[in-house]
Amino acid sequence: MYRQYFGLKYNPFDKEISTENLFLSKDMKELDSRLKYMLDARGICLVIGEPGSGKSTILRKMVETLNHSLYKPCYLPLTTLTVKDFYQAMASLLGETPAYKKYALFQQIQNCIQNLYYEQRVTPVIIIDEVHMAPVPVLDDLRAIFNFKVDSANPFVLILAGQQHIRNKLSLNTCYPLRQRITMRYSMQGFSADETIEYCKSRMKIAGCTSEVFSPSALAAIHSVSGGFPRNINNIAVATLMYCTEKKLLTADEETVYQANIETGI
Ligand SMILES: Nc1ncnc2c1ncn2[C@@H]1O[C@H](COP(=O)(O)OP(=O)(O)OP(=O)(O)O)[C@@H](O)[C@H]1O
Ligand SMILES: [Mg+2]
Repeated sequence: MYRQYFGLKYNPFDKEISTENLFLSKDMKELDSRLKYMLDARGICLVIGEPGSGKSTILRKMVETLNHSLYKPCYLPLTTLTVKDFYQAMASLLGETPAYKKYALFQQIQNCIQNLYYEQRVTPVIIIDEVHMAPVPVLDDLRAIFNFKVDSANPFVLILAGQQHIRNKLSLNTCYPLRQRITMRYSMQGFSADETIEYCKSRMKIAGCTSEVFSPSALAAIHSVSGGFPRNINNIAVATLMYCTEKKLLTADEETVYQANIETGI
């Protein structure tokens, strides 16, 4: 309905955005350059951010653009909870048929990583997303499984991504050895006020809207309500467009954004 009302060819704030069309925010640029550095330097990297700040999206982009003759990406969203489940998922992602016993799995994963790196000259890039869901025993085992004694150089890149409260788990004494091995950290900041404005305006224009639907005060309200986090921005912007359509408004101001936000209960 709102698409027709505003002459939009598609939803400008669609969450299924392709990686080429992502908005190049400061977070995107900074994290992208740190990840590129990690691909060369190898080792463990931690990406922390509020829900909907764009962590998984940036990692998805990295996986899509990796040179597969040099890197083997393994993306593991942490939905499993036991150490054994975690090992099995990791072995499968590395292309192995998971062994049955935990110790055998451990060996299998380590051998596979070493074989990829030293024999095939392919660096495994293991991404563990939603790492805040990991119980402490899994975090503890992560350090053990990514501990290679053969060489001082790390034969892998391990990227841990999750929400802020992973910090609390990592600050436990038992997680100290893992925490100590993290060589790169990035904390997502969200879009700045100027980025939110540019993002909303450019998305509307690219989707075919020729008028300025969001007034400057509406854009400021979208930024303040969303905290600059893209998932929130998308939800609030769409809710505002729907509200305008329902009330037959051609432009949105600050009040429109607040009302739309209240009505949709975002
Ligand atoms: N740079 C961007 N440009 C456009 N849209 C973006 C950008 N970054 C993120 N988004 C959108 O924001 C939404 C949330 O992003 P994402 O799922 O990556 O967040 P997250 O930090 O992984 O959240 P969670 O902690 O809940 O897993 C997605 O629908 C995505 O399309
Ligand atoms: Mg995510």
